[in-house]
Amino acid sequence: MHKDGQHVEGVGLVDIAARFGTPCYVYSRAALTRAYAAYRDTLQAHGLADRSLICYAVKANSNLAILNVFARLGAGFDIVSGGELARVIAAGGSADRIVFSGVGKSRAEMRAALEAGIHCFNVESASELDQLSEVAGSVGRRAPVSLRVNPDVDARTHPYISTGLKSAKFGVAFNEAFDLYRHAAALPHIAVKGIDCHIGSQLLDPAPAAEAADKVLALVDRLAAVGIALEHIDLGGGMGIQYRADEPAPAASDYLAPMLAKLAGRREKLVFEPGRSLVGNAGLLLTRVEVLKPGEEKHFAVVDAAMNDLMRPALYDAWHDIVKVSADETPTARAMRYEIVGPVCESGDFLGHDRLLALNEGDLLAILSAGAYGMSMASNYNTRPRAAEVMIDGDAVHLIRRREEVAQLFALESTLP
Ligand code: LLP
Repeated sequence: MHKDGQHVEGVGLVDIAARFGTPCYVYSRAALTRAYAAYRDTLQAHGLADRSLICYAVKANSNLAILNVFARLGAGFDIVSGGELARVIAAGGSADRIVFSGVGKSRAEMRAALEAGIHCFNVESASELDQLSEVAGSVGRRAPVSLRVNPDVDARTHPYISTGLKSAKFGVAFNEAFDLYRHAAALPHIAVKGIDCHIGSQLLDPAPAAEAADKVLALVDRLAAVGIALEHIDLGGGMGIQYRADEPAPAASDYLAPMLAKLAGRREKLVFEPGRSLVGNAGLLLTRVEVLKPGEEKHFAVVDAAMNDLMRPALYDAWHDIVKVSADETPTARAMRYEIVGPVCESGDFLGHDRLLALNEGDLLAILSAGAYGMSMASNYNTRPRAAEVMIDGDAVHLIRRREEVAQLFALESTLP
C-alpha cells in the first residue's frame, strides 16, 4: 500500500471498491517482485544464487496470477497437494522446479507428480517412502526423494504454526533419519537426492533457523561419510513479516544471513520454500463498514469481510493493522475504540480488537498484510461467496479472480429424489 493509505501502486482503493465491490483482495505486482528480489539478492550477496532454487510455498496464496508472476521471475514451487500441482502447471510453472511437501500424500498424488516429473518428493515418514517406492515402480520410474527431518528446534512462534519440535506430526525424527536414508538408498525405485527441514512459520528471530541448519549439515556430512552424497539441502520457509506498524520484522538479508553463513563453501545445491515473506505484505483486504453498533462495553464496527475471508485473527488471534481508506467527502466522525467484526454468526468472527478509528457507515477499510494465508484459507461458511481478487501493476488493474456467485456455492449439491 502507498504511504498515503489510499493507493496501491498508481491505483486508488476507492476506485477499486467502486469497480469490483467489497470484500476484495488487492495485490501489488511490484511488491511481489520486490519480495522475491530481496530473497534472491540476499542469496546473490552470499555467492549462493547460482546454486539456489527459491520454491514459493503455494499454500500461502495460490491464485494463478500470483503463481505466474513468480514463474516469470524464475521461481520454483513448494506444493502440498495434487491440486497445487495442477495449479502450478496451469500457471506456467515448470514441473522440474517443484518440490512436494506434506505428511499425507495419496498414491494418486504421488503418481501425478511422478508423471509430471517434479524435482523432488519431500518425504515425511518411513511408510510414505515405501508407498512412494511402490507407486514409482508401478509407473516405471524412480522417485527423486529428500527426507524431511525434524531437527527438534523450538521456532518460538505460535504453536499452531510451529513444526520443528519432536512433538509435531511433521518430518522424520532426527535420530531415525540416518537409518531411513540407508533404507532409502537401497530401494530400487527411489533416487536419494536431498534433505529438507522446515521448523515453523512467521519466525522473527534468525537463531532457530540457523540452529536447524547446523543440525541438518551435520547429518549431511555423516551421510556423505557412508557414501550417501546428497545433491541438495532444502531449508524450508518460515521467514516472518511485519504485521504491526510498531513491530518491525528483520529484513531478508538480516534474517537469512546467520543461516546462509553456514552454507558457504559447500558443494550441495540449495532449496528454499518461502511463502508468507513473498506475498504477505503484497496484499490487503478491502472491506466496507456496514453497520456501526455502539454498545455499553464495546463499540462494534460490522464490516462486509469476515472470518471466512480472513481466518487468521479467529484462528491464531493474529494481528493485522487496519486503516481507514477515506473518500474525501466523508465527514470525520469521532475516533473511538472499535471491535472490527464480520457478519458471521460466531463470537470468534473478528478481524481486529480495540482499534482506534473514526468511522462512518459506508467507510472503506483496508486490512493490511493479508496477502499470505488470506484468500488461500478462505471458506464459504455461512454461504458467503468468496471475495474478488485484483492485482495492480503500475496504473493497470487486473481482476485475477471474479467474486463467487451464490449459485456456484451449491452447484455441486442435489436434493433427494
Ligand atoms: N514449507 C513447508 C513444508 C511448510 O509447511 C510451510 C508452511 C512453508 C514451507 C511456508 O512457510 P512460510 O514461509 O509461509 O512461513 N496459516 C498459517 C501459516 C501456516 C504455515 C504452514 N506451512 C498462518 O496464517 O500464519
